[in-house]
Amino acid sequence: MKRTLASLDAGVLDGRRALVRVDFNVPLADGRVADDTRIRAALPTIRYLRERGARVVLLSHLGRPKGGADPRFSLRPVARALETLLGAPVAFLADPVAPDAVTETKRLPRGGVALAENTRFQPGEETNDAELARRFAALGDLYVDDAFGSAHRAHSSTEAVAHILKPAVSGFLMEQELRYLGAALADPKRPFIAVLGGAKISGKIDLIEALLPRVDEIIIGGAMACTFFRAMGLETGTSLVEEDRVEMARALLDRAGRKLVLPSGAVVAQRLTADAETRIVKRDAIPAGWAMYDIDQLSAEDFAAAIESAGTVVWNGPMGVFETPPFDRGTLTVAHAMARATSRGAVTIVGGGDSAAAVARAGVADRMSHVSTGGGASLEFLEGKVLPGVAALDDA
Ligand code: 3PG
Repeated sequence: MKRTLASLDAGVLDGRRALVRVDFNVPLADGRVADDTRIRAALPTIRYLRERGARVVLLSHLGRPKGGADPRFSLRPVARALETLLGAPVAFLADPVAPDAVTETKRLPRGGVALAENTRFQPGEETNDAELARRFAALGDLYVDDAFGSAHRAHSSTEAVAHILKPAVSGFLMEQELRYLGAALADPKRPFIAVLGGAKISGKIDLIEALLPRVDEIIIGGAMACTFFRAMGLETGTSLVEEDRVEMARALLDRAGRKLVLPSGAVVAQRLTADAETRIVKRDAIPAGWAMYDIDQLSAEDFAAAIESAGTVVWNGPMGVFETPPFDRGTLTVAHAMARATSRGAVTIVGGGDSAAAVARAGVADRMSHVSTGGGASLEFLEGKVLPGVAALDDA
């Protein structure tokens, strides 16, 4: 257990500068924030601090800039979006390691908010440089980590800084993420089902390995099912198959036995376009020249029935190419089944990234027990790995 923001006495916050690492790595389009989910997710922590008179200094990365400052990855549009959401001004620290940045943080009014420019503009951020961490630490009197989505990165603003600036506590979003994901692993309501999808099994092998002993069933969809089909000796047409993982898939099938459930049929097409001719085929009848782009409706309904009778469901990865209808049906069916399962009392957890986008598109995001804001971070957490950004925080 990690020390939490809520455990700090009000006196520790009033008038003090709270350096808060958030994950504002959000998509931008035409210079504006295209999806503010991650910003909204950090609002409870920011509001709590403001209400208690803290001066709030926010740190985040955005994108993967290479070689220093790059205006395409500036957090300025995020500062504007945050101003709108908070209904309050947000000062912008264009160079958070310049000496006057410290002065600016001290000049913030009680309850004032500042956002520092992209941490990845600083050489040393991604190498977890201690000197850079000291400079970040100078911007605050205590450290709050609410960046669950970045917690799998040992970077200066997520890891090294937490050893320097004390107390170093988790924010409300971080706490919520750890509570839901942690409970699913440690003490799941049963049956416990994992629904895994996406294009490649290579990125999910560790997850499958880690979940196998814990879950009652792992349901597999998406193109990654095709690597398993190949391992079963089936023809897969032009479907995406990771040839170098077929052996591994075969070993997993042997070991998992009935715990691993694959789709019984597929929606196939010759090209990936919305107007392509499609066919619904059994998994052992994918024709040459055709590729699987979605699970068939029968499989989707089987998966839905399993989800609806589960006590805990963790979902990571779409069932098909859901960005290109009509190959979104399997994914949407799963999303709606998750929503119904929640209503029946199940704990439903969506790992971030594509599956979070899918539940949003299905209009059921608010009907999940928890939608993680972390893509890679939630994956690594469920794989049982230690997240360096969490490990560095004070113990409770
Ligand atoms: C994410 O979007 O998963 C996090 O913000 C981490 O981003 P990164 O993969 O560029 O480190």
